[in-house]
Amino acid sequence: MDTRNIITEHSKIKLEIYKKYLKAYLSIMALPNVPYQHISVIDPFAGMGKDDKGTEGSASIAKSVFDELYPVFISNGKIPHLFLNELDINRFAKLKENVSSAEYINFSSDDANKFISNTANGLMGHALYFIDPFGYTQLDKTTYDSYLFGKNNTDILIFIPVYHIYRFLRKEENSEQLKPIAEFLKDIDISESSVKNLKTYREFTNVVADALKEKSNTHFVYYKILDNETSNSHYALFYISKNVLGAQKFLEIMDQMKQPSLFYNIISEPEHFRFENGLKQNQVLNNRQIYLGGIVCGLLPKDIRKILKSLEEEGKIFVKSLTGYERKRKAFPVDYSDYINKQPKIEVFWVGK
Ligand SMILES: C[S@@+](CC[C@H](N)C(=O)[O-])C[C@H]1O[C@@H](n2cnc3c(N)ncnc32)[C@H](O)[C@@H]1O
Repeated sequence: MDTRNIITEHSKIKLEIYKKYLKAYLSIMALPNVPYQHISVIDPFAGMGKDDKGTEGSASIAKSVFDELYPVFISNGKIPHLFLNELDINRFAKLKENVSSAEYINFSSDDANKFISNTANGLMGHALYFIDPFGYTQLDKTTYDSYLFGKNNTDILIFIPVYHIYRFLRKEENSEQLKPIAEFLKDIDISESSVKNLKTYREFTNVVADALKEKSNTHFVYYKILDNETSNSHYALFYISKNVLGAQKFLEIMDQMKQPSLFYNIISEPEHFRFENGLKQNQVLNNRQIYLGGIVCGLLPKDIRKILKSLEEEGKIFVKSLTGYERKRKAFPVDYSDYINKQPKIEVFWVGK
């Protein structure tokens, strides 16, 4: 929402991604074979639930997704939780008007840091945090390190105005109001010198992703840049996960949402290059390692297959079936189901230059 309480274009895309991801995330978490009984979705900057025109915000969106999937959770003996926090008393009152209470909802009105530490202590199972672009500078280093980056079984969606920060770091923008940005960068260990040689905010977005990987100690960090050329504002939605299936689900949603004017293609040249390079450097990898490496590079199984197929046609790789697996029609078993099956099915040898 902007200062006039109207949900802007950027926020609409942000909320569309949030809704789609939430649906995918909760659909998986509700399944009986997923080993978590408690699943929590945590929105520390929930706002009012709806804007002044009645457009749904993050809290209302989460409520409708929960309502849809709640029966599935219950029938599978699982317990979902939705935590909604809003500091401002008037906004909190509106939130409670706009989002009717339910068994699974916990409302609170605290500073986000206090709310996160209070909530985190009682959390069980798996959690997803949604950090709003208006909220990321509000969180302290301790909150980030102890409760967000430092936790296993925790996924984070965090929306950051990268262009604004990039200009700030390059001293192209400066004002008292931007001080919290400097604090945030310090918290994730990004210094002014690390952006000196960067040419665009897109390169800078990559630096932020690397910093988040380092801080969270995971390879599964992805982002989507949302461009609004007319207002020259560029945001990035970062997704941080400790789990390969969560990562795949996020990539699938990004793939479904490909809109050339809004998103850069998910399989970009650098991703191809990184993947191919990984194969080349390792010389031989089995299908489980290939699946994992592909997801780390931001590639879905269908993208991995496409690349492997052309590498095989070009004679750059040789594929060997392993004992107990018969390779039919030049198939590449690189799905999640092949990954969780501990017995590898094929080995791929790099034989190109
Ligand atoms: C842009 S609005 C929320 C939008 C909402 N997440 C959505 O996507 O629909 C950001 C909210 O964060 C609240 N807020 C700001 N600082 C906060 C803090 N330190 N702790 C908790 N809430 C805070 C503001 O009052 C505001 O309602």
